[in-house]
Amino acid sequence: MLLKQPVVDAINAQVVEEFTASAQYLAIALYFERETLPELAGFFRLQADEEHGHAVKLLDYVNEAGGNPVIAPTKAVKNDFSGVEECIQLALDQELTVTAQINHLVDVAVENNDHLTRQFLQWFVTEQLEEVATMSDLLAIVKRANGDLFRVEDYLARTPHPEAAAAGAA
Ligand SMILES: [Fe+2]
Ligand SMILES: [Fe+2]
Repeated sequence: MLLKQPVVDAINAQVVEEFTASAQYLAIALYFERETLPELAGFFRLQADEEHGHAVKLLDYVNEAGGNPVIAPTKAVKNDFSGVEECIQLALDQELTVTAQINHLVDVAVENNDHLTRQFLQWFVTEQLEEVATMSDLLAIVKRANGDLFRVEDYLARTPHPEAAAAGAA
């Protein structure tokens, strides 16, 4: 196979993180639906699909390169929330954590002289810039709205999310 086992193990570990992120975003979307915030709910459903797509992209890569992809249980997901700002802060924190995990994954690839994987991972490195920027913007909007959630819903209704819409095809 093209991949060394430590690289396969590190990618499989990241698969758990991506599926966990997907489940967390779905939990947030369901909360927003309970709160009758359809734009926020729809946005987080798209994010959940996007994270699912990231996990599958990693699994497909391991498979194609001759390794054994592993689907393991996700980590714990938060299901109870006290407000919109808490949810968006959690999402931003999660994206910052994932960014650090992707950087670590690149380190493992480089340590193993695996330039194929390093190059494959560049897509994820770039993707994290967009993910962190999107959540940072949304958190700023939520804070500025100061409790007027119609403003947040209106912002999302007017903001296109081509990256999330394309997630299924990625
Ligand atoms: Fe992701
Ligand atoms: Fe993400």
